Amino acid sequence: CGIIGCVGRGDETLDTLVHGLSKLEYRGYDSAGVALSSDHVEICKNSGKIDDLREALSDRTLSGSVGIGHTRWSTHGPPTDANAHPHQDCHGDVAVVHNGIIENYQSLRDELVAAGHTFTSDTDTEVVPHLIEDALEAGSDPEDAVREAISRLEGSYAVAAVVAGCDAVFAARNDSPLVLGLAEDATFLASDVPAFRDFTDQVVYLADGEFARLDADGWTVTDSDGSVVEKDVDTVEWDPEETGKSGYEHYMLKEIHEQPRALRQCLRGRVDELSGTVDIGDLGDLSPTGVQFVACGTSYHAALHGAQLFREAGIPSQAFLASEYATATPPIGDALVVGVTQSGETADTLSALRAARRRGARTLAVTNVVGSTAARECDHALYIRAGPEIGVAATKTFASQLAALNLLALGTSSTGDARQVISALRDLPGHVQEILDESAAQEIAEIYQDADAYFFIGRGYHEPVALEGALKMKEITYKHAEGFAAGELKHGPLALVTENTPVFAIVTGDDERARKTVGNVKEVEARDAPVVAITDGQSDVSRYADHVLELPETHPRAAAVLANIHLQLVSYHTAALLGRNIDKPRNLAKSVTVE
Ligand code: G6P
Repeated sequence: CGIIGCVGRGDETLDTLVHGLSKLEYRGYDSAGVALSSDHVEICKNSGKIDDLREALSDRTLSGSVGIGHTRWSTHGPPTDANAHPHQDCHGDVAVVHNGIIENYQSLRDELVAAGHTFTSDTDTEVVPHLIEDALEAGSDPEDAVREAISRLEGSYAVAAVVAGCDAVFAARNDSPLVLGLAEDATFLASDVPAFRDFTDQVVYLADGEFARLDADGWTVTDSDGSVVEKDVDTVEWDPEETGKSGYEHYMLKEIHEQPRALRQCLRGRVDELSGTVDIGDLGDLSPTGVQFVACGTSYHAALHGAQLFREAGIPSQAFLASEYATATPPIGDALVVGVTQSGETADTLSALRAARRRGARTLAVTNVVGSTAARECDHALYIRAGPEIGVAATKTFASQLAALNLLALGTSSTGDARQVISALRDLPGHVQEILDESAAQEIAEIYQDADAYFFIGRGYHEPVALEGALKMKEITYKHAEGFAAGELKHGPLALVTENTPVFAIVTGDDERARKTVGNVKEVEARDAPVVAITDGQSDVSRYADHVLELPETHPRAAAVLANIHLQLVSYHTAALLGRNIDKPRNLAKSVTVE
């Protein structure tokens, strides 16, 4: 979900809120709403996208110069008008928007209902305005009333509230991101910077347990006892243009094409080809004796790559799905626990990292978002520097995660071929550009757009890429797709292979691994499945393939990044041909802040 709030924009308040919501749509988009406050509170909300909200607002006049807004991704109750945020108290004097989950909402709701409050939604959020209402009726001033309500909540939340007759926005966070934006004549509040980036680059990140008040005099941040907290003001470095589509039809396509630049940014100043060394900044002396990776989705596939890198350097290492790790934490010993999360806000990953910390582990966040919860909570952070990613399906952040994990492995362990890896990393941006310019992915997409299913196979560094190729295909085309370790195909999935299930096989080099994968390719070819080989041409896989997506000869670690670019493009073009909602696939959200 996404939250926006603003004070100081006068007549432009409503437009500013709706504009901010449109920038946050990648965080959730099944319903949206706004509330403006003056001597009374007015709200407009409905299920559907921000455009539906705009439509609803076109028949209304909402007045007020302070306001809050929300775009929702359902966790409690279906995406109906009633469940859309903001939520209100019985008298309509309070409006609240919320991200996260209030774990004790049922007991609070029972208590409030017993005291005579009437609820109009299925959400956990609705307890908050009613708690505020109670506190106001008991004589608290608006700020204290909001504080008192917040103090009753258990769980994860970012909350913003307005109260009639009080020209302020109040906000609090616990386990869910909130950031203030400071312009000369206005103050903003949002769950992510793009919401107000068109107005300011000055930001203040709230920490868990902090409470903010935005009003005509500016802003204050206090702790849960009400003591003022001195906050650093940061400057965000990317410009508003970077969150626009720059002429591409979709953010996803734009982000696929941004990969050369993203990779250059990731590597800049961090590698020295001559000496074969990397400098990843002040991570201290990590020298891990073991590494456990925790991550979800695409980031999990990057984590699988990372674990292979450390194993190859002789350091025991494993990648875990964060949601499994958190509920059954494995023995950690003195392993370094690395959370790979582009947003730094994925609840499952944060939980896993916290579980590791509770057991005394050192933690490192590999993330794209400076100031994100993962970056702040971990002992160390390594930034992948990919720039903001808006498309729900992760693309450039995956490439940058792979590059950053290579830097991490090179910087904290020793491998014999460090120089070759560094040189391959240096060549990566140029190689990616060649693939973007020349890939035959669109033709492949045209040929196989009606396939029954898509399978992806690879060995070693190409196995995570096979998994990622399938995930991307599922996410944006809604077609059945599976990725397998090439050797596993014959142990079951081969039964699914038919002449209408193209198999994408990633094969580079001509070593034993490659030869075995070629053997697996022969197995599917013999069952009449079309084969698309993603290859550098060193093995004879092309002989058994119907089509070839070409890769340059490079180190297998870099080849993994490159193979994935072709697969991103195949998925993208297939989804485009099928007319899918590419940047916002159904049922998915960019940042999943619930477990
Ligand atoms: C969501 C997104 C995925 C992403 C995953 C992990 O499920 O839809 O694309 O890979 O979260 O996100 P993170 O921000 O932790 O990398």
